[in-house]
Amino acid sequence: MKAKISIDKNSIISKIDNRIYGSFIEHLGRAVYNGIYEPTHPLADESGWRRDVLELVKELKCPLVRYPGGNFVSGYNWEDGIGDKSKRPKKLELAWLSIETNQVGIDEFQDWARLAGTELMMAVNLGTRGPNEARELIEYCNGETDTHFANLRRKNGFEKPFNIKLWCLGNEMDGDWQICHKTAEEYGRIATETAKVLKWVDPTIELVACGSSDPNMPTYGEWERTVLDHTYDYVDYLSLHCYYGNKANDTKNFLARAEDMDRFIKRTAAICDEIKAKKGSDKTVNLSFDEWNVWYRTKDEEKTAERWQIAPHLLEEKYNLEDALLVGCMLSTLQNNSDRVKIGCLAQLVNVIAPIMTENGGKAWKQTIFYPYMYSSLYGRGSALNLKCHSESYKSNEGWDIPYLCSSAVINEDEDRITVFATNRSLDSDMELSLCGIDGYTLKEHIELYCDDIKAENSVDCEAISPKKREIIHTSPAILKKHSWNMLVFEK
Ligand code: AHR
Repeated sequence: MKAKISIDKNSIISKIDNRIYGSFIEHLGRAVYNGIYEPTHPLADESGWRRDVLELVKELKCPLVRYPGGNFVSGYNWEDGIGDKSKRPKKLELAWLSIETNQVGIDEFQDWARLAGTELMMAVNLGTRGPNEARELIEYCNGETDTHFANLRRKNGFEKPFNIKLWCLGNEMDGDWQICHKTAEEYGRIATETAKVLKWVDPTIELVACGSSDPNMPTYGEWERTVLDHTYDYVDYLSLHCYYGNKANDTKNFLARAEDMDRFIKRTAAICDEIKAKKGSDKTVNLSFDEWNVWYRTKDEEKTAERWQIAPHLLEEKYNLEDALLVGCMLSTLQNNSDRVKIGCLAQLVNVIAPIMTENGGKAWKQTIFYPYMYSSLYGRGSALNLKCHSESYKSNEGWDIPYLCSSAVINEDEDRITVFATNRSLDSDMELSLCGIDGYTLKEHIELYCDDIKAENSVDCEAISPKKREIIHTSPAILKKHSWNMLVFEK
């Protein structure tokens, strides 16, 4: 099969906000406890952080981590996780039916984020709580005044404010699974009032309002309109969440889900602009795609797992090559929509639907999805380019035309580099990809993620799927193997 990409390096979609390569750590399963934090592990530092996990997180150059949830945040009392660890309460955690020991809280997590070289995106509880507890939390985190909560932080050993710049107004409040789920009206009101007090305490922050937790929610569209009607003047971003799966074992259709993500983004951006026009506002509300990934094998696992465990094995999805291909396509979709999507969080980072896995007391290892995420984060910084792509296509189950080639390109002017990310979605044909418009550039690197068995997975002892450097014979055409993810790096 032949395909072609025409590149015009002056045709720019947008400068990419590096925060689209963010991730997410929730108090869920073994993400925190026995994930990033395991004081008895031989590689743990004096604070209990696993050094091997920190090293893997650093390899991803993850610019942003959302915390502490997720569904967890809607029942969380942040004060339970500060001060003397021996006095912190153990509590029933209702989102995941586990026990929360509170040995890690905001004091510890901001320390971990600093060691990991990442920024924190903090979520406030708008389920069981509201504006009052949110304003106390932001004073604790960012306050510089001689007042109670800022002083409490100082007393706990943190003279300097944490200076957290990005705040989520609750999580998935449209879903009836959420602790204290709300109607769009109820959420719109509480989000507005919380936004006001948060920005009064710290006017330098940015705020994210909850959009829909899935494009298939029956309230999708109306939820966004109602929430934005209330919050438009007070928030900076609207969130989107989406997880895809291949339960039907229909890989062609599964790989087409990136087009669904694309439509979800474009429809949601249009709704933001509809409210902008309705209000006659000069301000644009952009998008925060703060939960996205492949997730289906372990969905609803908490309902059948043994209840009230500490750090249970929950949502430990094992990823194969086809999952990595879709993750690669979804990253291209985020880049191609970087004019509207300014924040993205691969959900999640460690053990829970994650690129990084750990054994209790043992090794840490990389899942298949680690690689497209890492390379996109490392090489996808700069400006996203408008591409003209020609490729044969196939029909998705909805009847959409899905090009076999899924691609994006990023120009990094500082390094005189153009990087093309390209997935061949064909399950049986290699693709001869011609690249035009890159005169003066030569192909310096071709990284390929491929295995004949599209269902192959990695494990603690065997890395069946890892990137290979392909031999470079000429700049164009490049051969993309059937069902492979590729990164082509061109330099002057
Ligand atoms: O990421 C796992 C869960 O998925 C999050 O807690 C929730 O926000 C979403 O439903």
